[in-house]
Amino acid sequence: MEPLTLTDTIQSEEDKKLQEEVKSSGSIPNHIAIIMDGNGRWAKDKGNIRLFGHKAGVESVRDITESSAQIGVKHLTLYAFSTENWNRPSAEVNGLMKLLVNSLKNEAERLHKNNIKLTSIGQIDRLPESCQNQLQDVIEMTKDNDRLELCLALSYSGRWDITEAVKKMSQDVAKGKISPDDISDDLISSYLSTADIPDPDLIIRTSGEYRISNFLLWQLAYSELYITKTYWPDFRRNELYQAINSYQKRDRRYGNVKNGYTKKLSAAVINKIIS
Ligand code: IPE
Ligand code: IPE
Ligand code: MG
Repeated sequence: MEPLTLTDTIQSEEDKKLQEEVKSSGSIPNHIAIIMDGNGRWAKDKGNIRLFGHKAGVESVRDITESSAQIGVKHLTLYAFSTENWNRPSAEVNGLMKLLVNSLKNEAERLHKNNIKLTSIGQIDRLPESCQNQLQDVIEMTKDNDRLELCLALSYSGRWDITEAVKKMSQDVAKGKISPDDISDDLISSYLSTADIPDPDLIIRTSGEYRISNFLLWQLAYSELYITKTYWPDFRRNELYQAINSYQKRDRRYGNVKNGYTKKLSAAVINKIIS
């Protein structure tokens, strides 16, 4: 039996039942990545400034992280701050950075007790020093945990990730460590910031926008997409279960066919059909 965790002690019977239903209705995605969008609009609808939305979004992060761990997701990547988000007014950026430090501080112990490992991807050295230090502390504290890996994408963009990989690869070619002929899908993946994380099975975007906004551009080649109108601060575990249910109904063909031709078609038959 798994050790009792803080999360398990507060989980309702109804929720446990729901999770069992989701688990028995199909496979659980190994890696879920989420574009957490709509905090500003959520706050605006309530007559508040955007920062209230960001603060409320932290509750969703906790609920989705814990329910993902409980249901058996092994990797959860959260797009928390994009490279382009640096262009927002400095008051909002400062507020977000302070919120990040506070949330990391407040959640560290809970993450650790729940056996969750924190990691990050992105241009971490662009974050204020207080953020970098706090982040590093929690990463260090949780490094041996293995129930779920929670990866925060901070100051991240897919194009930045690919650009960095190309730079490092060309340096290694120049040094003679690799030859241009070695460059393959797998080698490129191994140079990305996500080298140690499998590609996402399911990408969720909240707030109803049908775009990727420079998230995991290389890694999402065959991810299933789930888009919901719900704003991030309202996105909680029940909707996560709906997203997983939707994923379970998908037919992931990876470019192949399900019921292909079982017998060989002669050249004569092919020519006859296509002419
Ligand atoms: C997502 O919510 C959080 C971040 C991008 C940091 P937004 O701040 O983009 O909220 P909307 O999309 O403007 O409502
Ligand atoms: C994407 O949301 C980035 C994050 C969720 C961190 P944005 O709100 O920045 O994206 P756009 O501007 O709608 O494309
Ligand atoms: Mg947005």
